[in-house]
Amino acid sequence: MYKTFEKHESNVRSYCRNFPIKLKYAKNAQLISESGEKYIDFFAGAGAINYGHNNPYIKNAILEYLSEDTIIHALDMYTIAKEGFIDTFYNLILKPRNLDYKMMFCGSTGTNAVEAALKLARKYTGRSNVFAFSGAFHGMSLGSLSMTSDSFSRAGGGVSLNNVTFMPYSNQFGDYNKSIEYLEWVLSDDHSGIDKPAAIFLETVQAEGGVNVCDISWLKKLREICDKYEILLVCDDIQVGIGRTGTFFSFERAGVVPDIVVLSKSLSGFGLPMSMLLMKPEIDVFRPAEHNGTFRGNQLAFVGAKAAVEYYCANDLNSVVKQNSEIIENYIKENILPLNNKLSYRGIGMIWGIDFAEIGEDVSKKVMNECVNNNLIIERAGRHDSVVKILPPLTIEREKLIEGLNILKESIEKI
Ligand SMILES: Cc1ncc(COP(=O)(O)O)c(C=O)c1O
Repeated sequence: MYKTFEKHESNVRSYCRNFPIKLKYAKNAQLISESGEKYIDFFAGAGAINYGHNNPYIKNAILEYLSEDTIIHALDMYTIAKEGFIDTFYNLILKPRNLDYKMMFCGSTGTNAVEAALKLARKYTGRSNVFAFSGAFHGMSLGSLSMTSDSFSRAGGGVSLNNVTFMPYSNQFGDYNKSIEYLEWVLSDDHSGIDKPAAIFLETVQAEGGVNVCDISWLKKLREICDKYEILLVCDDIQVGIGRTGTFFSFERAGVVPDIVVLSKSLSGFGLPMSMLLMKPEIDVFRPAEHNGTFRGNQLAFVGAKAAVEYYCANDLNSVVKQNSEIIENYIKENILPLNNKLSYRGIGMIWGIDFAEIGEDVSKKVMNECVNNNLIIERAGRHDSVVKILPPLTIEREKLIEGLNILKESIEKI
């Protein structure tokens, strides 16, 4: 059934091994295979499908744009599609939040924008070291990989990954104060042996790292430390931005403003590749073409991203996420935790993790496989992949959300 792929496609293919399905259709939180089998999507393209598959409002905007011979590829030239996005993003997202950022469009993947942020931070400060956190995931190209902590991915780099120092994340030692104290000591002791970094790269929720949610006070203190030592705070909001945590940017809940923000995944609203850096104006120090690329301006992605922002505001997705968040957390507490007293959970907004680490190494994989057998697409994350990650589209229908949670519960029960 999959012989074309098995014969011709590289060994590196990964998700298709966990979800051996040949997909044809997708609508909101439902995937439909070639043979007509229906699946509930609790993975949402690893966070690229926050607005649901084939969101009709976004799709219409793209179809309308396509209905004439409007330009599709334009390098980074001025186009109406780009202008439409910039104006809308400024008026609906940045201005109401008093955020004074310039926008930089990068190559079409998240990791390309992370590379741009790294280069920019180093150029702006003249320092080469950066800090990242244990448990971090920032992408697979060499710069991003150097800030990604898991040993399997790092080994794939094939070269030594330098100029990054890892710091303990908010929850690393249980008490977030310990992580902050260590960070302060490293920076303040002129014999700590660790070079002052250009930037601290942060995920406010480590999604691939196992759904580790940073503490609000920790985040505020991190901002203070960055100010005190003149270090840039870079928020990688690629997976948990665009509404995932209940606010458009994930850092809003702490009232802090990063110096650079990295966005991708759900930015285009439609699963089309797009990435963008937001930076405080004084950090905008690249010379023209210093981070260049052929695909830094996919016009369909701009059109989708404009419509997505309109949809976000018109449908008050913040409130939708808050309601769904309560449903998911209550469901976990009432129906899943009682299944085994070694289970733990954590999360925020519409990203939740159920941790099987205390039960045994293979358990999360068996649970995932059982979910897939019962038509629920769900992935794992974290140390030893022990966390099953609940990541549905923000727009999932209430009944589908409960149906998916029921499948998850029954699968855990069975395993
Ligand atoms: C937080 C974060 N940063 C960066 C990336 C890399 O994005 P991409 O896979 O588009 O290169 C990801 C992808 O999962 C991510 O979750």
